[in-house]
Amino acid sequence: MAQLLDGKRIADDIRAEVKLDVDVLLSKGARPPGLAVVLVGGDPASTVYVGSKVKACQELGYYSARHDLPASTTTAELLAVVDALNHDDRVDGILVQLPLPKHIDETLVLDAIVPHKDVDGFHPVNVGLLYLGQEARSLTPCTPTGIIELLQRYDIDVLGKRAVVIGRSAIVGKPMISLLINRSATVTVCHSKTKDLPGVCREADILIAAIGRTGFVTDQFVKPGAVVIDVGINPVTDAAVARELFGDDEKRLAAIERRGQTLAGDVNPRLVEPVAGWLTPVPGGVGPLTIAMLMKNTLKAHRLRDQAATA
Ligand code: GUN
Repeated sequence: MAQLLDGKRIADDIRAEVKLDVDVLLSKGARPPGLAVVLVGGDPASTVYVGSKVKACQELGYYSARHDLPASTTTAELLAVVDALNHDDRVDGILVQLPLPKHIDETLVLDAIVPHKDVDGFHPVNVGLLYLGQEARSLTPCTPTGIIELLQRYDIDVLGKRAVVIGRSAIVGKPMISLLINRSATVTVCHSKTKDLPGVCREADILIAAIGRTGFVTDQFVKPGAVVIDVGINPVTDAAVARELFGDDEKRLAAIERRGQTLAGDVNPRLVEPVAGWLTPVPGGVGPLTIAMLMKNTLKAHRLRDQAATA
């Protein structure tokens, strides 16, 4: 039976460490790290995520600014907001919540954030630095970097291991590949066109699922004893689907009764737990790490800016 990787506990540890560093900064009279979060439109999931990010800032004593813009915002208007934040000295990190409304040119917007404030690590300069293995002077995407922290803190070595990533998104899959290669894993990336996907995945010592398909990864994908990291966060509203994923877990069924939904990942835990060595739960696995790493990245951006100013 797989042991669970407690992302919530590791995220709490990371936040406590960041808080210690911030307290030292403040005790020296330095300005606090600052994060600006920009939300365009009122997508309910994005609104919840943005709220959690702002709350995390407040708990750590960061300066935080939240910009809620209407869904009708034009690319030019959003670029003007980004430009103002690029020049705002209180702000070390700028995060534009994705996805943006379809009429906005996402590439133009992400490219407009100055690389040293790009705490998402989505700017081509940061993508390139990560690809080149120059992580120390770049900002790397929060979710895959959080996964690396999780593995490290559970003493799960990636060096020489066979890692398989399912999904090639710019937010998780692609940066995950670079982070793993930089740590000397042997990496395979799979996607919707991969032939014999279960067979390729069964070669993995470390399997990372980031595809956004509920319960897609079954026992057929998992080598006995493998480490399985589930990046998916998918709402499940149907009790029959919940049973397929969680068996007779009463809490899940009660959540659907009470709140209309429960959250499930890309992995089917009922089928995978008996085979895997380690598994991240959903919720409480990768999710909490993303916000903790955003706080850590904002502190890093603060340091990088200080270093640039004194260089
Ligand atoms: N939407 C889903 N994940 C992310 C993320 O990591 N950053 C941003 N900006 N938007 C997201």
